[in-house]
Amino acid sequence: MKIFFEDSGFHSSEYDRLLKSVDWKSLLSPSVMPFVELPSADQINSIKKTALRLSDSFSTLVVVGMGGSSRGAKALHQAVGKGNARLVFLDNIDPDLLLETLNKIDWKRTAFVFISKSGRTLETVALMNVIFSELKKRKLFSGNRLVFIGDEGNSFQKLSSTLNASFLSIPKAIGGRFSVFTAVGLFPICFAGYSLDEFLEGAYDLLDSPLPAFYLAASKYLHYKAGRNISVVMPYSSYMTEFTEWYAQLWAESLGKDGKGQTPLKAVGTASQHSILQLFIDGPDDKFYQLFYVNNRSSDLKIPQGAKILPYLSGKNLGEVMRAEFEGTLFSLKQKGRPVVRFELSRLSEYQMGYLFMTYMVAVVVVARLMGVNPYGQPAVEVGKCYARELLEKGEN
Ligand code: PA5
Repeated sequence: MKIFFEDSGFHSSEYDRLLKSVDWKSLLSPSVMPFVELPSADQINSIKKTALRLSDSFSTLVVVGMGGSSRGAKALHQAVGKGNARLVFLDNIDPDLLLETLNKIDWKRTAFVFISKSGRTLETVALMNVIFSELKKRKLFSGNRLVFIGDEGNSFQKLSSTLNASFLSIPKAIGGRFSVFTAVGLFPICFAGYSLDEFLEGAYDLLDSPLPAFYLAASKYLHYKAGRNISVVMPYSSYMTEFTEWYAQLWAESLGKDGKGQTPLKAVGTASQHSILQLFIDGPDDKFYQLFYVNNRSSDLKIPQGAKILPYLSGKNLGEVMRAEFEGTLFSLKQKGRPVVRFELSRLSEYQMGYLFMTYMVAVVVVARLMGVNPYGQPAVEVGKCYARELLEKGEN
């Protein structure tokens, strides 16, 4: 992957000066970024063993988990898997969606993984209970089709041993949105047949040469200080919309604290050119842009010669049309002096996604350090959770 900063609006010497002020090299340590400690060979083996045992007997895995407990695997699955039907994600308790999903699955051939670091997330526990009851109705309730992932000693571990089901633990120090390289992300990815090794290699490569992540952080912080408190992610790929969801959570929950933060804004090329691009180019100069382009797609289609209406399309591949539109967006943003960082992905692969996830996880912690906020935890959302729990306990809603 190549990341281009030349249109990002600040000179590299300004990045260097800023990064020196936080002693950037010392930040890349497990005490500041616990997620840089990637899983050991033993941990990887145990994840692989559990995933392979399950995938031998079941064709589909339903992944039940909220926020950081599912978004990473979901993003990789969409980017790399495309039509792969081996994973189904349940990350909302919308009853209509749940019913629709549960009606579609082949129950006999389906396994379930319940992921929760705390073991107490309302939605995850609610969905789990509904699924248990559906399995019981079908006389399919047994521990061998269930896997639980959570913190050592949490309620999920206890339940797994009662049910004689597998349990995979999450390292204590690694929290939700930073957990894609633990069993949380790796187990579903492995079940679906994606390469864990390539995925982890992407992360390792970023950690070996982490400068792009630090530059990204510096760039985003400098623009934040200059009043650009909205940060746009716009991939030119419909298979990266889940990545934008993952990014939005990482950026919002990690930085949105003490009156600070940089609001993530998701767009997708080329569709959003027909909805939000006008605002990007001619609206307020309060945004920082991250554009992504995938150079080699798994397929392409040619527009035949003799195209009706727009003759210059004749004989062009759709990929060429997409590239031209991407260049058009870049050009118009640059012409207006809007700051852009451009990511060129060779293709959508496990490696590229691993590299991208790690880039952003490192970057967000550096930005948090520069802003003076704690990137971990999301204390403000507790208020609403407690309120909902009280309503449910009182039976008043
Ligand atoms: O990033 C986070 O910490 C959150 O998004 C959590 O992942 C989410 O709230 C789910 O929490 P848990 O894994 O405890 O169920």
